[in-house]
Amino acid sequence: MVKVLINGYGSIGKRVADAVAKQRDMEVLGVTKTKPDFEARLAIEKGYKLYAAIPERLSLFEERGIEVEGTILDVIEEADIVVDCTPSGVGRENLKMYKQYKVKAILQGGEKAQYVEDNFNALWSYERCYGKNYVRVVSCNTTGLCRTLYAIDSVTDIVKVRAVLVRRGADPHDIKRGPINAIVPNPPTLPSHHGPDVVSVIPELEGKIFTSAVVVPTTLMHMHTVMVETTGTTRDDIIEGIERTPRVFSISAEEGFHSTAAIVEFARDIGRMRYDIYEIAVWEESINVVDNEVFLMQAIHQESDVVPENIDCIRAMLEITDDNMKSIEMTDKALGIGLKINT
Ligand SMILES: NC(=O)c1ccc[n+]([C@@H]2O[C@H](COP(=O)([O-])OP(=O)(O)OC[C@H]3O[C@@H](n4cnc5c(N)ncnc54)[C@H](OP(=O)(O)O)[C@@H]3O)[C@@H](O)[C@H]2O)c1
Repeated sequence: MVKVLINGYGSIGKRVADAVAKQRDMEVLGVTKTKPDFEARLAIEKGYKLYAAIPERLSLFEERGIEVEGTILDVIEEADIVVDCTPSGVGRENLKMYKQYKVKAILQGGEKAQYVEDNFNALWSYERCYGKNYVRVVSCNTTGLCRTLYAIDSVTDIVKVRAVLVRRGADPHDIKRGPINAIVPNPPTLPSHHGPDVVSVIPELEGKIFTSAVVVPTTLMHMHTVMVETTGTTRDDIIEGIERTPRVFSISAEEGFHSTAAIVEFARDIGRMRYDIYEIAVWEESINVVDNEVFLMQAIHQESDVVPENIDCIRAMLEITDDNMKSIEMTDKALGIGLKINT
């Protein structure tokens, strides 16, 4: 059993902790918080050992009667790997600590590619990240694009990618962000950073991918329109590629999936914890091929699609298995991932 320390127990961190706890080959060594709030109490109730992420804040936990085991510095050397799930920009700062204590670390998509050795997606770059020390699991949007591009690439050759990203304004718990009543070009410059982020995982797409992004007032998932010029394919081939690709499934408006709200309702109905949808949902009706160009619309659950990627990234970096598909299968089985067409 490899020992995984999760630094940062927010949207991503709490999900990664629960996902690690469900794997047979890894265990949660501990989780960290900066604030002694209800999430800290719940982490302890779940059986996780809690540590203060910032040593100077240890006394705040004691004052609130929340029993912490110590600070991150008391446990870091016991970890085989740290999954850093702190807010954007903090992970980069934490890298200094991970390097000082000679512990491997995974950063999240809020950090820039330049700070790590490589960028992870289980389908595309598992082998490249094998045995590496500092790797970034790319963002939720980039993960979604990488998965469907893999499905398309599995049945034809990609010439050019164009994608328009409609991004959720905030996660459900987040009261600091907006917009409340607007559509915000984010960024207003074109292309957006998402294209280069995809290239950090799929270098073959350098110069071939162009993305734009806007933010809208919703907490329920991101939505992409993806347009991919290929050397030639058919709609049936694309559907087959999607069916064969792990962590991608197709939905249909005819079956009632009229919006991201319906997908979230579906996840609640099937009892997914926190209504997590690890899989990328592609609207079957949207899949079209005109001349050599593939079109599709997909929805991405921002809080959870990267969670299984973090698990596979741990296996790659700790050299648990060199077979990405085996790792994906293990992760997916443990998390109940594998929704199929129009389930
Ligand atoms: N949420 C998403 O949709 C999403 C999707 C993909 C990737 N990501 C990326 O994942 C990373 C984490 O995002 P998130 O949404 O999970 O953030 P979040 O919900 O704000 O959680 C951040 C966690 O980090 C802790 N923290 C804050 N400052 C810290 C510090 N200096 N040292 C250690 N821990 C600290 C916070 O603890 P306290 O609460 O105790 O302060 C909180 O538990 C970011 O890089 C983000 O870009 C996010």
